[in-house]
Amino acid sequence: MQTLNVNLGDRSYPIYIGQRLLEQSTLLSEAIKGNTVLIVSDSNVAPLYLQQVEETLAAENRRIDSLVLPAGEKNKNLTTLNLVFDALLEKRHARDTTLVALGGGVIGDMTGYAAASYQRGVSFIQIPTTILSQVDSSVGGKTGVNHALGKNMIGAFHQPVAVLADTDTLNTLPQREIAAGLAEVIKYGLLGDIEFLEWLENNIVDLVDLQPAALAYGIERSCQNKARIVAEDEREGGKRALLNLGHTFGHAIETAQSYSGLLHGEAVSVGMVMAADMSHRLGWLSSADVQRTRSVLAAAGLPTAVPDGISAAQFAELMGHDKKVLAGKLRLVLLRQLGDAVISADFDPAALEATLQAFATA
Ligand code: NAD
Ligand code: GLY
Repeated sequence: MQTLNVNLGDRSYPIYIGQRLLEQSTLLSEAIKGNTVLIVSDSNVAPLYLQQVEETLAAENRRIDSLVLPAGEKNKNLTTLNLVFDALLEKRHARDTTLVALGGGVIGDMTGYAAASYQRGVSFIQIPTTILSQVDSSVGGKTGVNHALGKNMIGAFHQPVAVLADTDTLNTLPQREIAAGLAEVIKYGLLGDIEFLEWLENNIVDLVDLQPAALAYGIERSCQNKARIVAEDEREGGKRALLNLGHTFGHAIETAQSYSGLLHGEAVSVGMVMAADMSHRLGWLSSADVQRTRSVLAAAGLPTAVPDGISAAQFAELMGHDKKVLAGKLRLVLLRQLGDAVISADFDPAALEATLQAFATA
């Protein structure tokens, strides 16, 4: 098992990465202070892992309640979130309760937001079960839900007290979800870790095949990158925004498709190709760099083109709702070179327009 730390003063917490962690009661018990727990999972993950986690958490004087939410991005909304509050209130959970998010990023984001707001804030633990959630969403304390008009528009910063990433859970992931998670892994290489990008280019097949040594290294290095950036800029005053490489384009795709088309990681993959293309138009990346970006994503089995039916005007409209808009100005994460992302509001708008026109499908 590897243990990393997210250094945030008195809100610091460990990330445990390894195999068979769901069975280790000490890791979870150390993070639980009160004597009630609500495990929140989804309809795909619960049949696979809920019983194990319930058994691991079982202890004298501790009550374990569980709630299974409908799976999928289209359910990441206030209506589903309310089911968590219903359960907490019906089962009389008090301020010393601990929520446990058992699932992918959708469950992690919703459970985290429930923990942030129930009785003005209770403790929560992340047990991420997708690659995407193990390398990204479980770390850093961004929590929330989608709105029909914009992705992740309602939420809060609320850090977990521990993250337990059991890599054995990834063996039941559908292939499409494995690829979607690898988009966020590749993101770390593109935005700030050229050595890692080179390693990914050479080892992507092993990652797609969930080869344990490659997977352990890929997850650990991703979490190191994320933990470092979060420790430097927890509330996204600056550098943390770099973690949104490809996301402004990608979120527009997800919203345009009513959260029922491309998976989040797939949309981020297309978005990163669009960011690379725009960076090329600004004279920063060579066309070979753009092709390199496209190739590593395609090798992971990810889409690199916009799905049918999204116009340049629709992109522009949806991108205008982005959380990085400041004083009415869109800010985009772009690539000065591979492994060196910047956040820019001063880009030439003609470059953005040209990218949108080149990628639009309606
Ligand atoms: P997800 O939670 O929808 O999980 C993907 C699918 O895999 C779901 O159908 C789920 O039921 C299933 N699943 C999960 N674990 C499984 C397992 N071990 N075996 C079999 N099936 C399993 O999606 P995701 O890709 O994990 O997360 C995407 C979400 O994360 C998006 O909503 C995105 O906005 C959010 N996100 C948040 C942050 C953050 O910092 N908070 C960062 C990146 C992404
Ligand atoms: N996934 C972006 C962030 O955590 O900031």
